[in-house]
Amino acid sequence: MSMLDEAVLPVLPVETDEFASNPAPFLEEARKQHPWLARFSQGYFVHGYQATCDLLADDENLHSGFGPVIDFYEARGTMWGRFMDEIIMARPGNSEGHKRLRASINKAFTPRRANDARDMMHQIITRLLDEWAPKGRFDFAEFASYIPISVVCGLLGVSTDEIPRIRSALESQLLSVTLDPAAKPLFMAGWDVMWEFADALVKDREAGGALDEGALLDTLILAEHSGQIDPTELRFMVLTLLFGGYDTTKNQLTMTMKLAVENPEIYERCADDLKYCGKVVEEALRHTPTVSPFRRAARDFTYEGIRFREGDTLVIATPLAGHDPSVFAEAESFDPARANANRHVGFGRGAHICVGQFVAKAILEESLHLIAGRIRHPKIEGRLEWRSILGAYGLNSLPIAFDAG
Ligand code: HEM
Repeated sequence: MSMLDEAVLPVLPVETDEFASNPAPFLEEARKQHPWLARFSQGYFVHGYQATCDLLADDENLHSGFGPVIDFYEARGTMWGRFMDEIIMARPGNSEGHKRLRASINKAFTPRRANDARDMMHQIITRLLDEWAPKGRFDFAEFASYIPISVVCGLLGVSTDEIPRIRSALESQLLSVTLDPAAKPLFMAGWDVMWEFADALVKDREAGGALDEGALLDTLILAEHSGQIDPTELRFMVLTLLFGGYDTTKNQLTMTMKLAVENPEIYERCADDLKYCGKVVEEALRHTPTVSPFRRAARDFTYEGIRFREGDTLVIATPLAGHDPSVFAEAESFDPARANANRHVGFGRGAHICVGQFVAKAILEESLHLIAGRIRHPKIEGRLEWRSILGAYGLNSLPIAFDAG
């Protein structure tokens, strides 16, 4: 057994563009030194498949949370700091608070409810394509960003007029991960917009007549009325769904598009076959998922010969777990017929497993199907700019040129 800081581990240049654009050769070397764990300039990260599943599901020993980010910005005592500390993703998976918040939304995110929303998704994506497809070339990542926000706003009953304002406030929140003090006034101003928006949304709905258990916002308001969550938790939850669904789905859709465009026969088939899109989406979640959760040891514990001390931190790199050769054969190839693609960890594992996963999958499938029908023969133009694998992986932009269908 080795203490974490004394273990002989490979060092990986995870912050570099070279690593982000093609981690495979680095990982192949790293695995020769350690099968599932590596070091990087600021800490440790897990890349093995089994370790990813086990450690994400270990709510007793490992907790999530954004404490270091809140402290970095000296934001304790602000509403933003409180939000970052109290949202569902930040609460220990084994805590009463997490279970209570999760119970308040679980019934609004079943596979059936996600399927019921497909008509609405179809209309939103068609409307966006009517506006964007005639252009012949655009940044796909920018286009993709309008889809999840429009869908989550649709689920919450928000007017489409509000979308540009909310989208820009959400974009400002992404600046907080840069750990750049200059970003603070920008994301704090965006946060004020978000908070006022959530407060007005809830108040308008409460003044607007009988609540319907089948509607997302009403489900949350009813949870507040029954005492399951308090008024602040209700507003935080509305914002969490916007935050949780926005950048993640935009990145995953952009990555799925990249993988499909690079394989024209796969892309073409997506236009004709919605069911096939499900396989493409699943394989993209296996090949390049985009969220790398962060965990901190809540106490001393040992896992597979490594002794962790309370306070040790880990990045759990789901984009790398899907390339573990002991689970996925020929992991570099993108193959929607892969029999075990559905073992992907793109939505996490354990108590924090993505609550919006069925909605996200429905958005990705419907988008891919409709996009492939309207954006014909797409080609990627120019050099791709990658985001780091730490945090929200993906592409900053995906410039494409195409024939408008
Ligand atoms: C393709 C898109 C998405 C991906 C890849 C994704 C990925 C993830 C992952 C990996 C986690 C676990 C985080 C952890 O363990 O710390 C998570 C949690 C979560 N996601 Fe998603 N997500 C996506 C879309 C969505 C959508 C559309 C929503 C809501 C509308 C959503 C809401 C949430 C929430 C609320 C949590 C926290 C759950 C908890 O802590 O219990 N996500 N997501």
